[in-house]
Amino acid sequence: MTVLVVGSGGREHALALALALDPEVVGVHVAPGNPGTWQLSERYGIPIDSSLGLALTAMDPLDGEAVVGMAQELGASLVVIGPEAPLVAGVADRVRDAGIACFGPSAEAAQLEGSKQFAKQVMAAAGVPTARSRYCLTIEQVEDALDEFGAPYVVKNDHLAGGKGVVVTSDRDEALAHAAACGETVIEEYLDGPEVSLFAVCDGKRGLPLLPAQDFKRAGESDTGPNTGGMGAYTPLPWAPEGLVEQIMEQVIDPTLAQMRHRGTPFQGLLYAGLALTSAGLRVVEFNARFGDPETEAILPLLSSGLGQVLYAAATGTLDGIPDLEWEDSSSVVVIYAADGYPGDPRTGGRIALAPIQDASPHTQVFHCGTALDDDGDLIAHGGRVLAVAAQGDSLAAARDAAYAAVASIDFPTGFYRHDIAQRAAESAIPTPHL
Ligand code: AMP
Ligand code: GLY
Repeated sequence: MTVLVVGSGGREHALALALALDPEVVGVHVAPGNPGTWQLSERYGIPIDSSLGLALTAMDPLDGEAVVGMAQELGASLVVIGPEAPLVAGVADRVRDAGIACFGPSAEAAQLEGSKQFAKQVMAAAGVPTARSRYCLTIEQVEDALDEFGAPYVVKNDHLAGGKGVVVTSDRDEALAHAAACGETVIEEYLDGPEVSLFAVCDGKRGLPLLPAQDFKRAGESDTGPNTGGMGAYTPLPWAPEGLVEQIMEQVIDPTLAQMRHRGTPFQGLLYAGLALTSAGLRVVEFNARFGDPETEAILPLLSSGLGQVLYAAATGTLDGIPDLEWEDSSSVVVIYAADGYPGDPRTGGRIALAPIQDASPHTQVFHCGTALDDDGDLIAHGGRVLAVAAQGDSLAAARDAAYAAVASIDFPTGFYRHDIAQRAAESAIPTPHL
């Protein structure tokens, strides 16, 4: 089959690579893609291309008709939608209406990510454990909620904010200022304990879990600075309690899928549960309706099962025929190389020099997130998160060393990265929480 992947970031390139390695997949097209699409194709000698280089250029991922048109032109039998914005805008509905299998939830089901308040309502109805919260429209309501839950304060924009909608602070004025800037907010109790991201491939009825991962949300070392879309990730979690994935499936994914079906809006796509493992048990921090970035760049290089077949089965409601996913017995780490200023006002246009492709280890990948070519054909930064540098190894420490060695081989003077991704886990410094 030929697969059209909609999006242009590191996540879409990790998806494209895993799809292209599936023997059932004969071609992958990333639209709009970025200069990294060709690099992947060149390096692995497998057909991955992007709309940047074709006559079909400049596809707008938010334009459902354009996505359908491109899928038809390519003869794609599966469309995989990467980012949340097209999902919330109903692009998956348009693709399905055109009779093409689509991996990605409907606009209604994507509200699990699109509205924090909707997600809270679904969780309440499904009995899924999550932080207590209040939905606030006025500053008076915000003040009451801040008083009720106390510091540290957690203030969330009710709507999509590109991973930057949440402020966690003990400074009440900062909490109030963020709430005022958001308009509609969800204020919730602070959840303590390590965070886990669990992704499940869902066909509306059944969910198939991927490996659990941990993401690093803050911009600065030792989890300081503002929240970002994610500065790094690793998988699997050596400190995870026994039976963690089964417990998340039972307490979170399965009841949520059942509740979404009950509402007449079955969830078909990737259900991403962001969880905190608190002393009182696991709690959902958030749902997303798509693969997480950068966890995907860490997780997918370990997948042995054919991703195309799995996503096609999910898109056609036939996951029942698919066995549990198989994984390589190694660890994987991804470090994000971001542009200076991210997540505020990233400095774009900075030159990037990558090591030659033939020097790459088979166990490292440089996925492009926000890159472009300038008029001279040189690679430049073109977004906040610029590169996702992934590596696999026999241990987390080995994967980490390999990822940082690959990062060190990149010359990107106007970029920065965190030096402590996966460090505590690699040093066995994260105690196993009791669930
Ligand atoms: P969200 O967009 O809801 O995932 O929030 C982004 C990040 O903010 C999470 O990954 C957490 O690190 C932090 N966060 C969100 N909600 C809470 C909470 N209730 N308690 C503590 N931290 C939170
Ligand atoms: N890794 C965080 C996200 O994708 O939202």
